[in-house]
Amino acid sequence: MRAVVVGGGASGRAIGAAIAARGWTVQVSSRRTGLDVLRDDVAAALEGADVVVEATGRFTTSRRRATGFFVRSTTAIGSAAAAVGARHVLLSIVGCERSEVQGYGYFAGKAAQERAAAATGAALTVVRSTQWHEFAAQNAERFRLGRMALVPGMAVAPVALDSVAGVVGEVVTGTRRGSRFEVAGPQVTTLRAMTEALPALARHVVPMRIPGALGRAFRDGALLPGPDVEIVGPSFDEWAAL
Ligand SMILES: NC(=O)c1ccc[n+]([C@@H]2O[C@H](COP(=O)([O-])OP(=O)(O)OC[C@H]3O[C@@H](n4cnc5c(N)ncnc54)[C@H](OP(=O)(O)O)[C@@H]3O)[C@@H](O)[C@H]2O)c1
Repeated sequence: MRAVVVGGGASGRAIGAAIAARGWTVQVSSRRTGLDVLRDDVAAALEGADVVVEATGRFTTSRRRATGFFVRSTTAIGSAAAAVGARHVLLSIVGCERSEVQGYGYFAGKAAQERAAAATGAALTVVRSTQWHEFAAQNAERFRLGRMALVPGMAVAPVALDSVAGVVGEVVTGTRRGSRFEVAGPQVTTLRAMTEALPALARHVVPMRIPGALGRAFRDGALLPGPDVEIVGPSFDEWAAL
Protein backbone atom coordinates (compact mmCIF):
# COMPACT_ATOMS: atom_id res chain seq x y z
CA MET A 1 0.00 0.00 0.00
CA ARG A 2 1.27 3.45 -0.82
CA ALA A 3 0.79 6.94 0.59
CA VAL A 4 1.94 10.34 -0.59
CA VAL A 5 2.43 13.09 1.98
CA VAL A 6 2.32 16.54 0.42
CA GLY A 7 4.24 19.12 2.48
CA GLY A 8 7.86 18.90 3.45
CA GLY A 9 7.75 20.76 6.76
CA ALA A 10 8.01 19.38 10.28
CA SER A 11 4.66 17.65 10.02
CA GLY A 12 5.27 16.16 6.57
CA ARG A 13 8.47 14.52 7.78
CA ALA A 14 6.93 13.22 11.04
CA ILE A 15 3.89 11.84 9.23
CA GLY A 16 6.06 10.22 6.56
CA ALA A 17 8.01 8.44 9.32
CA ALA A 18 4.81 7.37 11.11
CA ILE A 19 3.37 5.85 7.92
CA ALA A 20 6.63 4.06 7.05
CA ALA A 21 6.78 2.65 10.59
CA ARG A 22 3.39 1.03 9.93
CA GLY A 23 4.74 -0.84 6.91
CA TRP A 24 3.43 1.26 4.03
CA THR A 25 5.46 2.73 1.20
CA VAL A 26 5.45 6.51 1.56
CA GLN A 27 6.72 9.44 -0.42
CA VAL A 28 6.98 12.96 1.02
CA SER A 29 6.55 15.53 -1.76
CA SER A 30 6.68 19.30 -1.89
CA ARG A 31 8.19 22.05 -4.00
CA ARG A 32 11.63 20.98 -2.77
CA THR A 33 11.14 17.57 -4.39
CA GLY A 34 9.52 19.02 -7.53
CA LEU A 35 5.78 19.09 -6.69
CA ASP A 36 4.07 22.47 -6.50
CA VAL A 37 0.40 21.78 -5.82
CA LEU A 38 -0.59 25.23 -7.08
CA ARG A 39 1.00 24.67 -10.52
CA ASP A 40 1.72 21.02 -11.24
CA ASP A 41 -0.39 18.03 -12.24
CA VAL A 42 -1.13 16.65 -8.77
CA ALA A 43 -3.05 13.63 -10.12
CA ALA A 44 0.09 12.51 -11.96
CA ALA A 45 2.04 12.75 -8.70
CA LEU A 46 -0.58 10.60 -6.94
CA GLU A 47 -0.64 7.81 -9.53
CA GLY A 48 -0.68 4.49 -7.64
CA ALA A 49 -1.33 6.11 -4.24
CA ASP A 50 -4.01 4.73 -1.93
CA VAL A 51 -3.96 7.78 0.35
CA VAL A 52 -2.70 11.35 0.13
CA VAL A 53 -1.99 13.36 3.28
CA GLU A 54 -2.19 17.13 2.88
CA ALA A 55 0.34 18.78 5.19
CA THR A 56 1.04 21.89 3.16
CA GLY A 57 1.26 25.28 4.81
CA ARG A 58 2.01 28.92 4.18
CA PHE A 59 2.22 31.21 7.18
CA THR A 60 0.41 34.50 6.76
CA THR A 61 -1.97 36.54 8.90
CA SER A 62 -3.72 37.89 5.79
CA ARG A 63 -7.16 36.35 5.41
CA ARG A 64 -7.04 36.78 1.62
CA ARG A 65 -3.64 35.14 1.23
CA ALA A 66 -4.33 32.34 3.73
CA THR A 67 -7.69 31.51 2.17
CA GLY A 68 -6.24 31.71 -1.34
CA PHE A 69 -3.42 29.30 -0.51
CA PHE A 70 -5.29 26.76 1.61
CA VAL A 71 -8.34 26.57 -0.67
CA ARG A 72 -6.21 26.16 -3.79
CA SER A 73 -4.00 23.55 -2.12
CA THR A 74 -6.87 21.43 -0.88
CA THR A 75 -8.89 21.74 -4.09
CA ALA A 76 -5.91 20.58 -6.14
CA ILE A 77 -5.04 17.71 -3.79
CA GLY A 78 -8.62 16.58 -3.11
CA SER A 79 -9.60 16.70 -6.80
CA ALA A 80 -6.48 14.76 -7.73
CA ALA A 81 -7.23 12.19 -5.01
CA ALA A 82 -10.76 11.77 -6.36
CA ALA A 83 -9.41 11.36 -9.90
CA VAL A 84 -7.03 8.52 -8.93
CA GLY A 85 -9.32 6.93 -6.31
CA ALA A 86 -7.14 7.80 -3.31
CA ARG A 87 -8.39 8.84 0.13
CA HIS A 88 -7.59 12.40 1.24
CA VAL A 89 -6.36 13.09 4.79
CA LEU A 90 -6.16 16.78 5.75
CA LEU A 91 -4.30 18.26 8.72
CA SER A 92 -6.19 21.02 10.45
CA ILE A 93 -6.50 22.89 13.73
CA VAL A 94 -8.90 22.46 16.66
CA GLY A 95 -11.18 25.49 16.85
CA CYS A 96 -10.12 27.10 13.56
CA GLU A 97 -13.80 27.55 12.59
CA ARG A 98 -14.82 29.34 15.82
CA SER A 99 -16.33 32.76 15.11
CA GLU A 100 -14.13 34.53 17.69
CA VAL A 101 -10.89 33.59 15.84
CA GLN A 102 -12.01 34.39 12.29
CA GLY A 103 -10.33 37.80 12.63
CA TYR A 104 -7.02 35.94 12.44
CA GLY A 105 -6.54 35.38 8.73
CA TYR A 106 -4.67 32.08 9.11
CA PHE A 107 -7.59 30.46 10.94
CA ALA A 108 -10.11 31.86 8.48
CA GLY A 109 -7.99 30.24 5.77
CA LYS A 110 -7.94 26.88 7.56
CA ALA A 111 -11.71 26.96 8.09
CA ALA A 112 -12.21 27.74 4.39
CA GLN A 113 -9.81 24.89 3.54
CA GLU A 114 -11.89 22.38 5.52
CA ARG A 115 -15.04 23.48 3.68
CA ALA A 116 -13.33 23.29 0.27
CA ALA A 117 -11.83 19.86 1.06
CA ALA A 118 -15.30 18.47 1.75
CA ALA A 119 -16.44 19.50 -1.73
CA THR A 120 -13.78 17.84 -3.92
CA GLY A 121 -15.43 14.41 -4.13
CA ALA A 122 -12.58 12.48 -2.49
CA ALA A 123 -13.16 10.34 0.61
CA LEU A 124 -11.96 12.77 3.29
CA THR A 125 -10.67 12.46 6.85
CA VAL A 126 -9.77 15.67 8.68
CA VAL A 127 -7.27 15.21 11.52
CA ARG A 128 -7.43 18.28 13.71
CA SER A 129 -5.00 18.97 16.50
CA THR A 130 -4.26 21.77 18.88
CA GLN A 131 -0.94 23.64 18.51
CA TRP A 132 2.03 21.29 18.54
CA HIS A 133 4.77 21.41 21.18
CA GLU A 134 6.95 22.41 18.21
CA PHE A 135 4.71 25.47 17.65
CA ALA A 136 6.74 27.45 20.21
CA ALA A 137 9.78 27.15 17.94
CA GLN A 138 7.74 27.92 14.80
CA ASN A 139 6.29 31.04 16.42
CA ALA A 140 9.70 32.20 17.71
CA GLU A 141 11.08 31.82 14.19
CA ARG A 142 8.18 33.71 12.58
CA PHE A 143 8.22 36.62 15.06
CA ARG A 144 11.94 36.98 15.74
CA LEU A 145 13.65 40.35 16.20
CA GLY A 146 17.34 39.62 16.64
CA ARG A 147 17.58 37.64 19.87
CA MET A 148 14.03 38.55 20.90
CA ALA A 149 10.98 36.48 20.15
CA LEU A 150 7.58 38.20 20.12
CA VAL A 151 4.99 35.87 21.63
CA PRO A 152 1.25 36.56 21.46
CA GLY A 153 -0.87 35.94 24.56
CA MET A 154 -2.46 32.57 23.88
CA ALA A 155 -3.86 29.80 26.08
CA VAL A 156 -3.05 26.43 24.51
CA ALA A 157 -3.27 22.69 25.17
CA PRO A 158 -0.27 21.69 23.07
CA VAL A 159 0.28 18.21 21.69
CA ALA A 160 3.41 16.44 20.49
CA LEU A 161 3.73 16.44 16.72
CA ASP A 162 4.90 12.80 16.81
CA SER A 163 1.65 11.86 18.59
CA VAL A 164 -0.42 13.66 15.95
CA ALA A 165 1.64 11.93 13.25
CA GLY A 166 0.83 8.60 14.91
CA VAL A 167 -2.89 9.35 14.68
CA VAL A 168 -2.49 10.28 11.02
CA GLY A 169 -0.52 7.07 10.45
CA GLU A 170 -3.42 5.08 11.90
CA VAL A 171 -5.92 6.91 9.70
CA VAL A 172 -3.79 6.32 6.61
CA THR A 173 -3.30 2.60 7.25
CA GLY A 174 -6.94 2.06 8.24
CA THR A 175 -6.53 1.33 11.97
CA ARG A 176 -8.73 4.36 12.54
CA ARG A 177 -11.71 4.95 10.29
CA GLY A 178 -13.85 8.07 10.29
CA SER A 179 -14.29 11.48 8.74
CA ARG A 180 -12.84 13.53 11.60
CA PHE A 181 -10.49 13.07 14.54
CA GLU A 182 -9.53 15.78 17.02
CA VAL A 183 -6.54 15.49 19.34
CA ALA A 184 -4.99 17.69 22.02
CA GLY A 185 -2.32 17.42 24.68
CA PRO A 186 -3.00 16.83 28.39
CA GLN A 187 -1.72 20.15 29.77
CA VAL A 188 -3.14 23.67 29.47
CA THR A 189 -0.45 26.34 29.35
CA THR A 190 0.41 29.48 27.42
CA LEU A 191 2.55 30.01 24.36
CA ARG A 192 4.70 32.35 26.45
CA ALA A 193 5.35 29.68 29.11
CA MET A 194 6.21 27.17 26.37
CA THR A 195 8.69 29.59 24.79
CA GLU A 196 10.27 30.46 28.13
CA ALA A 197 10.66 26.75 28.92
CA LEU A 198 12.85 26.34 25.82
CA PRO A 199 15.67 28.87 26.39
CA ALA A 200 17.42 27.95 23.14
CA LEU A 201 14.54 29.58 21.23
CA ALA A 202 15.26 33.17 22.26
CA ARG A 203 17.26 35.16 24.77
CA HIS A 204 14.32 37.49 25.45
CA VAL A 205 10.68 36.53 25.25
CA VAL A 206 8.61 39.64 24.59
CA PRO A 207 4.85 39.43 25.11
CA MET A 208 2.96 40.66 22.04
CA ARG A 209 -0.48 42.00 22.91
CA ILE A 210 -3.01 41.29 20.18
CA PRO A 211 -5.59 44.04 20.57
CA GLY A 212 -9.36 43.81 20.75
CA ALA A 213 -11.72 40.87 20.76
CA LEU A 214 -9.32 38.56 18.90
CA GLY A 215 -6.54 39.05 21.47
CA ARG A 216 -9.01 38.43 24.30
CA ALA A 217 -10.27 35.28 22.57
CA PHE A 218 -6.73 33.89 22.24
CA ARG A 219 -5.88 34.72 25.86
CA ASP A 220 -9.19 33.41 27.21
CA GLY A 221 -8.92 30.00 25.57
CA ALA A 222 -10.70 30.12 22.19
CA LEU A 223 -8.12 27.61 20.92
CA LEU A 224 -8.55 25.15 23.77
CA PRO A 225 -10.16 21.80 23.01
CA GLY A 226 -13.75 20.99 23.88
CA PRO A 227 -14.67 18.02 26.09
CA ASP A 228 -14.91 15.49 23.24
CA VAL A 229 -11.38 15.96 21.96
CA GLU A 230 -9.04 12.97 22.41
CA ILE A 231 -6.12 13.65 24.74
CA VAL A 232 -2.72 12.23 23.77
CA GLY A 233 0.60 12.58 25.60
CA PRO A 234 3.31 13.36 26.29
CA SER A 235 2.54 16.62 28.07
CA PHE A 236 4.57 19.66 27.09
CA ASP A 237 6.60 19.48 30.33
CA GLU A 238 7.43 15.80 29.74
CA TRP A 239 8.36 16.49 26.13
CA ALA A 240 10.51 19.52 26.99
CA ALA A 241 12.39 17.51 29.62
CA LEU A 242 13.45 14.84 27.09
N1 LIG B 1 1.91 24.29 13.64
C1 LIG B 1 0.94 23.78 14.38
O1 LIG B 1 0.97 23.83 15.64
C2 LIG B 1 -0.23 23.12 13.70
C3 LIG B 1 -1.22 22.50 14.47
C4 LIG B 1 -2.28 21.86 13.83
C5 LIG B 1 -2.33 21.85 12.44
N2 LIG B 1 -1.38 22.47 11.71
C6 LIG B 1 -1.49 22.44 10.24
O2 LIG B 1 -0.61 21.46 9.72
C7 LIG B 1 -0.26 21.81 8.37
C8 LIG B 1 1.23 21.66 8.18
O3 LIG B 1 1.88 22.52 9.08
P1 LIG B 1 3.45 22.72 9.06
O4 LIG B 1 3.77 23.63 10.20
O5 LIG B 1 4.15 21.41 8.93
O6 LIG B 1 3.54 23.51 7.70
P2 LIG B 1 4.65 24.51 7.18
O7 LIG B 1 5.95 24.16 7.81
O8 LIG B 1 4.14 25.89 7.26
O9 LIG B 1 4.64 24.15 5.63
C9 LIG B 1 4.60 22.81 5.22
C10 LIG B 1 5.17 22.62 3.88
O10 LIG B 1 4.25 22.97 2.86
C11 LIG B 1 5.01 22.92 1.66
N3 LIG B 1 4.38 23.74 0.63
C12 LIG B 1 4.07 25.07 0.69
N4 LIG B 1 3.55 25.47 -0.48
C13 LIG B 1 3.53 24.35 -1.30
C14 LIG B 1 3.11 24.13 -2.63
N5 LIG B 1 2.62 25.12 -3.40
N6 LIG B 1 3.25 22.89 -3.15
C15 LIG B 1 3.74 21.88 -2.40
N7 LIG B 1 4.15 22.03 -1.12
C16 LIG B 1 4.05 23.26 -0.58
C17 LIG B 1 6.38 23.49 2.05
O11 LIG B 1 7.43 22.64 1.55
P3 LIG B 1 8.28 23.19 0.29
O12 LIG B 1 8.82 24.51 0.72
O13 LIG B 1 9.30 22.15 0.02
O14 LIG B 1 7.28 23.30 -0.80
C18 LIG B 1 6.40 23.43 3.57
O15 LIG B 1 7.54 22.79 4.11
C19 LIG B 1 -0.76 23.24 8.15
O16 LIG B 1 -1.91 23.21 7.35
C20 LIG B 1 -1.10 23.74 9.57
O17 LIG B 1 -2.15 24.65 9.56
C21 LIG B 1 -0.32 23.09 12.30
